[in-house]
Amino acid sequence: MARGGQKRCFFEGQRLTTEISLHNPEPKGDGGTTTTIYGSKGSGKTTFLVTLALNCGYIDPNTHQITKETVIWRGREIDYWMYFPKKATTLFIHKDDIDNVEFRFEDLTVPEDKDLPQIVTYSSCKDLYNKFKRGQINVVYEPMTYTMTDAVKSMVQRRGAAKRELFENVDVSPVIFWFEMFDWIVRNKGLDPITIIFDEADELFPVSPGGARWHLNLWAKERIKDFRKKNISLALASHGYQDIDGRILVKIQYKLYMKGCTTPTVSLIDRHAPIMLDKGVYYIEKDAWGLAKFSRLSERPKITTTFGSRIGEDTFVESVESRAGHVREEVRAEIERVRAEMALKNGAPSPAQKGIDRVKGIRQPITSTLPNNLPTTEVVELTHADLDMPPPKPPAPAPMGTPAPASAPVDADAPMRTGDVETERRRMEYLKRTANQT
Ligand SMILES: Nc1ncnc2c1ncn2[C@@H]1O[C@H](COP(=O)(O)OP(=O)(O)OP(=O)(O)O)[C@@H](O)[C@H]1O
Ligand SMILES: [Mg+2]
Repeated sequence: MARGGQKRCFFEGQRLTTEISLHNPEPKGDGGTTTTIYGSKGSGKTTFLVTLALNCGYIDPNTHQITKETVIWRGREIDYWMYFPKKATTLFIHKDDIDNVEFRFEDLTVPEDKDLPQIVTYSSCKDLYNKFKRGQINVVYEPMTYTMTDAVKSMVQRRGAAKRELFENVDVSPVIFWFEMFDWIVRNKGLDPITIIFDEADELFPVSPGGARWHLNLWAKERIKDFRKKNISLALASHGYQDIDGRILVKIQYKLYMKGCTTPTVSLIDRHAPIMLDKGVYYIEKDAWGLAKFSRLSERPKITTTFGSRIGEDTFVESVESRAGHVREEVRAEIERVRAEMALKNGAPSPAQKGIDRVKGIRQPITSTLPNNLPTTEVVELTHADLDMPPPKPPAPAPMGTPAPASAPVDADAPMRTGDVETERRRMEYLKRTANQT
């Protein structure tokens, strides 16, 4: 591919990455952004989210200074919050869980209190929101014994479709707390920008959930529409777009594709293009698309957090389900990889090259810089000539599993185009034959 095309890819990648990490708040700017990150196991999704949490900021409309944004990081059983600076991080644990919580490093040693960030308890969404540390990273563990409040029930019932019976005998997952939290934030917060980061987002917005969860996803889809205007940014990660409710995905502005995932058919990026990306390189797409890079972080220990009341059958069932999900993901990634390799052997252009060749135009140059050390892409200087280059026409995307078109019957007498070896041989034969005839 021409060097100009590659430069343009990285230029767009930088521009789109800046948009998700450095916000221009409403009422004058574009407001919050919504982003999903896809990639196979170990592709670097969590590392990217940690980098985003460490660096996301906004341009203060009054001072025009880049200011650190308030981050809400959903705490997970095995988590990366030791990557955050201790002094700028707070752990929030529900008041009913504080006596049952236990932290361990991966080698099962128990951290000393001095190794941990400050821990604060909360009792309700309002209490939690009021205790958030502005401009810092707030790691929140949802209440482990969450009972659906009337507020959540009425949220769903306002959709008109749900009856009260829908909530009876419902196995209430603690993750539903986040729906209540989103609702509270949208209704009660001012215009100060916040970023909510949710790894393994299929736990929040699973595909085809039953009962109340189905309605909650529908409700969330409409709530997410209001995030932008309220300067709320949302970053979600999962292994593939297939793992998140499609009704939510249509409301997401930015998509990042890392190593090992595929793109949906509506994407501007070739379906298989991300499969063989290197670790640390990703496609990013909104109204245009580009390529960008991020670095690995220096290793820190991960922390396992367990809550006494959860240790038991539920945890076992969850971990089996989660393992099954990972195995499914690994099998899917392997199938895609073998398919792409076979296509390469058969002479098809590499998926990554095909993706790059599908550059779609160029937009405004970047005028802002990323806060701190977030720049995740090469800084590429574009010349006028690069910008004026017409973008290459994308090949029409063939749906997955489309059989290769049958080759046309060969007319041995027809003059041939120059090209591959076989064509060249036939062209020479034709020339010899016609030379003998004359
Ligand atoms: N840009 C990078 N370059 C090289 N190595 C990286 C990069 N980003 C992450 N890694 C390494 O890859 C490994 C997996 O990273 P990470 O946990 O972020 O992946 P993940 O996609 O979240 O995986 P999972 O799906 O299992 O949650 C880690 O050891 C990390 O240090
Ligand atoms: Mg991860």
